[in-house]
Amino acid sequence: MEALKGIRILDMTHVQAGPTCSQLLAWLGADVIKFESPAGDATRGQLRDVPNADSLYFTMLNCNKRSITVNMKSPDGQKVFVELLMKCDLVMENFGPGVLDRLGFPWEKIHEINPRIVMGSIKGFGSSGPYADFKAYENVAQAMGGAMSTTGVPEGPPFVTGAQIGDSGTGLHLAIGLLAALRQRDRTGEGQYVEVAMMDGVMNLCRVKWRDHQRLTRQTLSEYSVPTEGLTFTPRAGNDSGGGQLGNAVKCKPGGPNDYLYVVVQEAVWDGLAKRIGPGLGHPELATDPRFAKIADRRKNQQEIWRMLDQFGSNYTKRELMAILNELDVPCGPIMSTEDLANDEHVRGREMYVELDHPQRGKWYNIGMPIKLSASPAKIERSPTLGEHTEEILKEVLGWSDADIAAKKQAGAFSLPPKAK
Ligand SMILES: CC(C)(COP(=O)(O)OP(=O)(O)OC[C@H]1O[C@@H](n2cnc3c(N)ncnc32)[C@H](O)[C@@H]1OP(=O)(O)O)[C@@H](O)C(=O)NCCC(=O)NCCS
Repeated sequence: MEALKGIRILDMTHVQAGPTCSQLLAWLGADVIKFESPAGDATRGQLRDVPNADSLYFTMLNCNKRSITVNMKSPDGQKVFVELLMKCDLVMENFGPGVLDRLGFPWEKIHEINPRIVMGSIKGFGSSGPYADFKAYENVAQAMGGAMSTTGVPEGPPFVTGAQIGDSGTGLHLAIGLLAALRQRDRTGEGQYVEVAMMDGVMNLCRVKWRDHQRLTRQTLSEYSVPTEGLTFTPRAGNDSGGGQLGNAVKCKPGGPNDYLYVVVQEAVWDGLAKRIGPGLGHPELATDPRFAKIADRRKNQQEIWRMLDQFGSNYTKRELMAILNELDVPCGPIMSTEDLANDEHVRGREMYVELDHPQRGKWYNIGMPIKLSASPAKIERSPTLGEHTEEILKEVLGWSDADIAAKKQAGAFSLPPKAK
C-alpha cells in the first residue's frame, strides 16, 4: 500500500521548483492532479529534443501525475477549480507574486472554500519583506541565498552549483512542510498555509557557510586552503572539504575533465595514507615528516599534500585510485560524469536511472525515487500529455456527466480564450 494513498493533490505548480515536490509526493502514493492552463506548463515546450513531444524538462519532473487543463480566466473554469478544491487534501502553486490574488483566490478564500485543505506555496522570496514582489529562477535564488558567493575559487567569479538547490531543494523543503501540515490537519481537521521561499531554502542548504561566517569574527578558517585573514564574509574555497577534515579533488589518469577522485584526508587515515603514497614519491618517511605530524600541521601544509596526491594519482585511473584508497579506509569518491552514472551498476541496481516509455517520444530515462520506503516502494510511471485526464478527472473526481462536460467545454472552461489562441 502506498504511504500517501488517499491523499489527493491539486497541483497548480509549473517549471521545476513546484513540480519536483509534487512528483515526489506522487511517488509516495498521492493522487496528483496537474492542473494546467490550456496552454500547458511552459516547460512542455522548452528545450525540446523530439519534435512535437513533451520536452525532457517536463517529462522528468511530472511523472505519475494526471493532467487536466482548465482556463482559470473564465468563470466556468473557476467553478471547476472550486469543485476540485473541495475534493482535494492539498493544493500547491509556485506562481509569480500576486497571481492567485489576481485570479481571486488568495489563501483566505481557499481556506474558506475548504477549511481542511492544506496549501503549499513557493515564492522566490516569500510573501513578506522588501523582496516579496520579485520573481525568481534557480540561479537567482542561488545568487541571493549565499550559494554563489561561496562557490568557485577566490580569484575567479562566483559560480552556480550544478545541483538545483534553488528549485529542487525548495521542492524538498515544501514536501516536508506539507507532510507536517497534513499530519496536523488529521489531528485538528484544519488546513494551513505552508510557504517556502527559494532564498530561505538556499540559505538553509548553505548552513555550514554561516558557521564559517561567524567563526571569522574570532578566528581565521585554518582548514581552508585559501587565506582568510581579515575577511568579513565566507570566501569561495574551491574544492575544500568544508568540514573539520581536509579534502580535495585529486587528478587521475588519463587527465580528462572528470578524471579526478575526491579524497578526504581524515585524521585517522593519515598514517596509512602517508605510508602508502610516500615511498613511490621518493619520500619514504612521509608518515613521520614533522610538516604533516598533526592535523594543524597538515592544514597549514595542505597544498603540499594535494601536490603529492596529484603526483601519486596521475599513475592510476580514478577507479584504480579509489580501490587503492578504499583498502586503506580513506573516504573517497570518483568525480562521476553523467555518462559514468548512466552506465553505473550501483545506480541501475538502486533504480536511480529508470527507463520509461512515452507515447510522443518513445524510450527515455528518468532519475528514480531517492527516498526508499520498505513497505511503499515507488513505481515510476510516465508523465501525462497535456489534458490527458481532463474527462477522467471530471467524471471520477467530480462526478460529472458527459452532458455537464460538453456544456462547460462550450463555455470555454477547458480551452484558451479566443485572443490567446
Ligand atoms: C517561475 C516564474 C518566474 C515564471 O513567471 P511567469 O512565466 O511570468 O508566470 P507567473 O507565475 O508569474 O504567471 C502565470 C500566469 O499564468 C496564468 N495562469 C496560470 N494558470 C492558469 C490557468 N489554469 N488558466 C489561465 N491562466 C493561468 C496566471 O493567471 C498568470 O497570469 P497573469 O500574469 O496574467 O496573472 C514565476 O512563476 C515565479 O517567480 N514563481 C515563484 C518562484 C518559482 O517557483 N520559481 C522557480 C521556477 S522553477
